[in-house]
Amino acid sequence: MQLIYILALKSIRCVPMSKVKDASLAKKGEAELEWARRNMPALASIRARFEKEKPFAGMTISTALHLEKKTGILLETLAAGGAKVFASSCNPLTTDDSVAAAMAKQQNMNVFAWEGQTNEEYYFCLNSVLDGKPDIVIDDGCDLINLLHTKRRGELAKVKGACEETTTGIVRLQAMQKAGKLLLPVFAVNNAHSKFLLDNQFGTAQSTVTAIMQATNKLIAGKTVVVAGYGWCGRGVASRMKGMGANVIVVEIDGTLGPHESGLQRGLSALYDGFRVMAMDEAAQQGDLFVTATGSKNALDAQHFSKMKDGAILCNAGHFNVEINEPALRRMSGKIEELKENIAGYRLKSGKTLYLLSEGRLVNLARPSGQGHPIEIMDGSFAIQALCCELIAKGAKMKAGVHDVPKETDDAVARLLLQSQGIGLEEPTAEQKKYSESFEEGT
Ligand SMILES: NC(=O)c1ccc[n+]([C@@H]2O[C@H](COP(=O)([O-])OP(=O)(O)OC[C@H]3O[C@@H](n4cnc5c(N)ncnc54)[C@H](O)[C@@H]3O)[C@@H](O)[C@H]2O)c1
Repeated sequence: MQLIYILALKSIRCVPMSKVKDASLAKKGEAELEWARRNMPALASIRARFEKEKPFAGMTISTALHLEKKTGILLETLAAGGAKVFASSCNPLTTDDSVAAAMAKQQNMNVFAWEGQTNEEYYFCLNSVLDGKPDIVIDDGCDLINLLHTKRRGELAKVKGACEETTTGIVRLQAMQKAGKLLLPVFAVNNAHSKFLLDNQFGTAQSTVTAIMQATNKLIAGKTVVVAGYGWCGRGVASRMKGMGANVIVVEIDGTLGPHESGLQRGLSALYDGFRVMAMDEAAQQGDLFVTATGSKNALDAQHFSKMKDGAILCNAGHFNVEINEPALRRMSGKIEELKENIAGYRLKSGKTLYLLSEGRLVNLARPSGQGHPIEIMDGSFAIQALCCELIAKGAKMKAGVHDVPKETDDAVARLLLQSQGIGLEEPTAEQKKYSESFEEGT
């Protein structure tokens, strides 16, 4: 792999300020960015204001976000607000190299990301964005914030605050907070209603189904699709698979593992939504296609692989590549073939072959078949990120810990998204507002 340092000639010390796979891809990347730019009206309106007000003047923002075109527009928005940006990806497989090349050419933009990283390269990039000495951090999955609290504690004192994009990141932050180890205020962007109700549900649904179809070119209709986890991501995937004619089985757990309601109520809501619900031991025997979205570990494990049908396809839409126990699958296999991009065949010693998509990493983001969420969805999620960064920059008074996104910010983004589609909602009357706060009788 040819890695290119882009020299920042404007820098006095002439240190390499970006590291991307191939700088000659920048033209293609700029076309991708332009398409996203034209379809992200909420961020465009925030950017127009940032250009005038420069809320980040003199500040550095370091990010670990899947580095593709929609992320590029968020980073541009922050730079338009006066920030110097240091950007890496939050996953070794999800960088769009053309977008990374185009971003690296922009003013005040330092990019350390390429697709297909080793673990060592992944951490080199995370460390590189912390070398920028950030005032604000944006993370997706908590690897960057974790690094700040462990090997890069020297950088911690300067950081005013951070934002976390995904459910798994929030779970990790809450564990750090419980152990008294979280030393920063962090906005739980994932928990904003304008984020998880839209991004996790509708974004993951469309992008996961698209990526599976793109990688396999197989028909969804008539297949038995097993969805593990009926959280916001899982229910989106299940509903879209059903809409495409699949026979959907949902697997949930007896208990609570996530930050939301327990698997018991979620299993029941899947049942009442019209799905078959069962334990994985039973579902494993029936599925043609398995999608995990649990935020947990080993939702698909050795005892399930041994029960699966020959030719079953496995993939993961949860944040980390721990939901499908790939090491166990590897141990059970006599031969592993890299069949084509995004598909590996595991020939089990029993004679069956199981197919794993994208190494068990986020199927909807792992390139080339994964393109991430639809643009409009990321317009909303990243509008929340931009506004939360502004709150941090303006010195929002917050103690170390995980903080909800303020309701006004959450609602402002939903309003922007509706307005961008020309939709206005009913204004509640003074009488209705008063009634909603009173003990008035209904009759
Ligand atoms: N692919 C994407 O683009 C994308 C987008 C947003 C979030 N995520 C990630 O997806 C994962 C799920 O997010 P969410 O918001 O739906 O979380 P969530 O906590 O709302 O839902 C997870 C569900 O999985 C269930 N579960 C846990 N272990 C299980 C197991 N072994 N078998 C079956 N069910 C199990 C939980 O009970 C819960 O209902 C997280 O890792 C999150 O970070 C991915």
